[in-house]
Amino acid sequence: MTERTAEQTADAPRETSPHRRRGLGLSGKLLALTLLFVTVAEILIFVPSIANFRLNWLNDRLAAAHTAALVLDAAPSGMVPEPLARQILDSIGAKTVAMKMGDQRRLLAISDMPPAIHHDIDMRDVSKTMAVVTALQTMFLCGDNDYIRVVGDAPMGGQFLEIVLPEAPLRAAMFRFSRNVLLVSLVIAAITAALIYFALNMMFVRPMRRITANMIAFHRDPEDPSRVIVPSGRRDEIATAERELAAMQRDLASMLQQKNRLAALGLAVSKINHDLRNLLASAQLFSDRIAGSADPTVQRFAPKLERAIERAIAFCQATLSYGAAPEPVPDRRMIALEPVIAEARDALGLGDDTPIRWIVAVERGLTIDADPEQLFRILLNLSRNARQAIESDAGAEAGVGQIRITGRRVGAVVEIEVADTGPGFSEKARAHLFEAFQGSTRAGGSGLGLAIVAELVQAHGGEIRLVDGTIGATFRITIPDRALELPLRRRA
Ligand SMILES: Nc1ncnc2c1ncn2[C@@H]1O[C@H](COP(=O)(O)OP(=O)(O)OP(=O)(O)O)[C@@H](O)[C@H]1O
Ligand SMILES: [Mg+2]
Repeated sequence: MTERTAEQTADAPRETSPHRRRGLGLSGKLLALTLLFVTVAEILIFVPSIANFRLNWLNDRLAAAHTAALVLDAAPSGMVPEPLARQILDSIGAKTVAMKMGDQRRLLAISDMPPAIHHDIDMRDVSKTMAVVTALQTMFLCGDNDYIRVVGDAPMGGQFLEIVLPEAPLRAAMFRFSRNVLLVSLVIAAITAALIYFALNMMFVRPMRRITANMIAFHRDPEDPSRVIVPSGRRDEIATAERELAAMQRDLASMLQQKNRLAALGLAVSKINHDLRNLLASAQLFSDRIAGSADPTVQRFAPKLERAIERAIAFCQATLSYGAAPEPVPDRRMIALEPVIAEARDALGLGDDTPIRWIVAVERGLTIDADPEQLFRILLNLSRNARQAIESDAGAEAGVGQIRITGRRVGAVVEIEVADTGPGFSEKARAHLFEAFQGSTRAGGSGLGLAIVAELVQAHGGEIRLVDGTIGATFRITIPDRALELPLRRRA
C-alpha cells in the first residue's frame, strides 16, 4: 500500500463508520480516568497534610507561649502588669497561658473569668489517626465561638504548659491552607492529566484509531490487497497486532480471491454440465438404435454403452454444479460389493488383455451399506487415479502394474483398500490431499477426483486415508453400517 492510501484509509471512516460510537470514546475515558486518579492521589496527600498543618499551627502557639512563660518566670512575684500581659497574649493569640512548675501554677490572663473550653488537645501525645480526625472536626464541626485548651511540654523543667485560645482563627488558617493546596493541586492535576493524556493518546489511542480505520476500510472491500494494513514500524505490542492483522488480511484477501475463482469455475462447470447432458441425451438415442443391430460384438457391448451413458446423464442431472450444489444425500441400502467393483473395472476399460492386472480380494458375499452410484464413483475415481499413476510411471516397464482391491467386514464396518503399484504420491499431491483443485500434478488433471471421493465417503459417515506402503499408493476406506433403528426395520 502506498503512503497515500494508508493515510486515506486512516482518515476516511470517522463520519461514514457503519457502527457509530456511543458514549465516551477512548480519549474521553482516558481523560476522565486520568483526572479521577490524579484527584484521588491529591486527596490522599491532602488529608495527612492538613492534619500536619494543624499540629504545626498549634505548636507555633505553644512555642510563643514558651516565651511568655519565660517572661512570667522572670517577673517579680510572678505577676506582670496588665498592658504587658495583654500584649503578650495578643501576640500568641491566646486568652490565657498557664504553666505548672512543681506545686506552683502560674497564670497569665487578662480576666479572672476563664472562657468555657470546648476541646482539649494534649500535644504531648497525638496519634496520627487522631490528628486526622481532630483536624476534620476542627474544619467542619467546630462552632464560631469555641475555645480549645492546648497542653504541651513546659520549659525549664516545668510539668506542662497550657494555653486557651479560640478555635476560629485555627479553622480560618486551615481553610486558607486548603484553598492554597487546592489551587496548587488543580494546577498539578491539569498539567499531569494533560501530559498523561497526550502521552497515552500518542501511544495507544492514535494507533488504535489507525487500526480500527484500516479494519473498517478493509471490511468494505476485503478483496482489495491495497487495503491491507501497513505495519507502522513500531516495536511494541501494537506492532505485533498490526503485523498479525496484516497477515490475517492478506490470507483473507487471497482466500476470497480463490473463492471467487472457484465460484466462477463452478458456474463454468454448470454450463458445461448442462450442455454435456444434452449431448449425452443424443448419444443415448444413437446407442438405442445400435442396440437393435444383430452383430454379436455390438450385442455384447451395447448394454454397457447404454448403462455408461445413462450414468453420465444421471451425473450431469444430479450435480449440475459441483461448486454450487453439494453432493446429494446418499441413498443407502445393503448391496453386494463385488458387482460394483466389476462395474468400475468395466468403466475403466481394463480387460484381461491390458498390461494392468486387476486383482480383487473381497470376502465371499460381502455386503456394504452404501449408495451404489456413489460407491461406484468412489471406486472408479480411485482406480482411475491408480491406472493413471501406473501409466505415467516412467521408471516402470511401460504401463505394467497392478491394481488391487480388497474388501472385508469388521463388525459393523466395511473396510475397502485400493492399492496400486505406481510411483506413489508426490510431495505436492500429499500436501493437498483431498483438497479440491489443489493437489493435481497431472497434466489435464483437475484435482477434483480425490476431493469428490472424500466427500462421498464422509457422506456415508466413513473415513478415507492414504496408507503408507512400500510401493505405490494405498487408500483405505471404512464405511460403517447405519445405526439400526429397530421399529423402522421391523416395519420394513
Ligand atoms: N494412486 C495414485 N498414485 C500416485 N499419485 C496419485 C494417485 N492418486 C492420486 N494421485 C495424485 O493426486 C493428485 C490428485 O488426484 P485427483 O484425483 O484429486 O486429481 P487428478 O487425478 O489430478 O484430476 P481429476 O480431477 O481429473 O481426477 C493427482 O494429480 C496425482 O498427482
Ligand atoms: Mg483423479
